Parts: sequence; C-alpha cells; structure tokens
Amino acid sequence: MDRLKSVLQALALGVLVLHIDGAARAQSSGAERGLGTTGHLMIETPGALTPAEANEVYDGIADDLAGFYAMSREPAAIAFRKWRRYNSAPYLSATHGNRYVNNYGNRLSAGYDRMTSGFRMPAGAVLVKNSFTVTADGEVFGAAMFIMEKLPAGRRPGTGDWRYVMIMPDGSYEGDSEGDNAAAVGYCHDCHAADARTDFLFYIPKAYRAVAGD
Ligand code: HEC
Repeated sequence: MDRLKSVLQALALGVLVLHIDGAARAQSSGAERGLGTTGHLMIETPGALTPAEANEVYDGIADDLAGFYAMSREPAAIAFRKWRRYNSAPYLSATHGNRYVNNYGNRLSAGYDRMTSGFRMPAGAVLVKNSFTVTADGEVFGAAMFIMEKLPAGRRPGTGDWRYVMIMPDGSYEGDSEGDNAAAVGYCHDCHAADARTDFLFYIPKAYRAVAGD
C-alpha cells in the first residue's frame, strides 16, 4: 500500500518530521486507525502505541529513515536492515530519550538473545538501535541511531572494548567514541557499565523479545 507514502523534511536540530500522506482516518478501524488525512501521520493515542500500531508506524517510515542513517556512510547504518531484528515491535526506551526503538544485530551478535552471566561478545559484533518519536500531537519524527561495536580484545579497556556511536536522522554523527566528538557519547558507557555481567549489554524488555531469552 502506498497509503504511507512519505515526504521527508529536514528540520533544525537534525530531526526529521515524517509527513505521511495518509488516507485512512475516515474509515479508521483496526490496523489503519489513527492515520490522518492532514498530511501528517497522526496517532490518536500518542505515547501509548500498541505493538501492532508501533510496527505499522515503523513499517511506514523504515525505508526513509534507513536512507537517512545511511548518509553517514557508517557501515552498520548502511547494513542493519538486512540484519536480525531482536525485538518483536518498537518499544518505548526511557533510557534513549523516551523514543520508540528497535534492536538489530549483525551475524556475530548471534549470542545476544542467549546471554548468561559472563557472556562476552566476539570482536566485530555490532548492535544497532534505531528510533522514532511520537509527539503529544501525534506527529512522527525520525530520531537517532545508537550503535555499539565490539572492538578487538584489549583495544579499549575503559569501555569493555565497546565503541559507541550516535547518528542523527540526517546522517550526521552526534558522536563516535573512537572518532570525532567522543565526549558527546561518553555518557553511553557510564550507563551501560551497570550491566558488566553480560558484557555491558542490557537486552530487550521481556514483552518485546522476538525470541524468548533471559
Ligand atoms: C541511562 C542508561 C543508558 C544510556 C545513557 C544509554 N543506554 Fe543504551 N541501553 C540502555 C538500556 C537499559 C538498554 C536496553 C533496554 C532498551 O533498549 O531500552 C540499552 C540498549 C542499548 C543497545 C542495544 C544493546 C543492549 O544493551 O541491549 C545499544 C546498541 C545501545 N543501548 C546504545 C547506546 C548508545 C550508543 C548510547 C549513547 C549515545 C546509549 N546506549 C546510552 C541504557 C542506556
């Protein structure tokens, strides 16, 4: 369906508003509930999307959003849509700006859904979290991408050999712990350090796991 044909508009602060050319509000029911005719994607109950609604919103913006992250030329930001998605639907992450997020991982991240105490990711494993925001008015914004990449053992003892990157939805780098503006992403590991038991990875809230795990 091209009901969700969208036009992307870059705004100040590196945020994008995703204007959705929806046509479903009149006959709003079921899965199509909440899609407006005003030129914006309108959500009737912002902040409280059901998993099905969150998936529907994400399906409508995912291609455009991925295109913008890819402008960064960061390999993970280009490749992640082909990777495994570990969550069943976008969920609100208070720790990442109260945005709806997804978690993707490359092939080397395969142990992510089976982590037990003492687990360590192999070098080259990459986890990517992309995100979008729904405002109180029900507008949908593409938001930042969060990346964790496991470096070769011993490369960066201070962060458990993790590289942290934050990419804005216009493709610009907010910060790269191994490159420019490293200080801007220093707070990432300050918080992730809390879960040293499983290699500084937290995993996904139970209700949103695509595969059962602990
Ligand atoms: C205040 C704590 C906190 C901060 C700050 C934080 N995170 Fe997270 N992060 C979490 C939690 C909790 C999860 C798992 C639950 C979720 O997805 O919300 C997570 C999950 C992730 C994941 C998926 C891997 C995992 O741990 O399960 C990535 C990738 C990630 N964060 C990257 C980042 C980056 C990059 C930054 C900094 C720009 C950052 N995070 C800042 C707490 C934090």
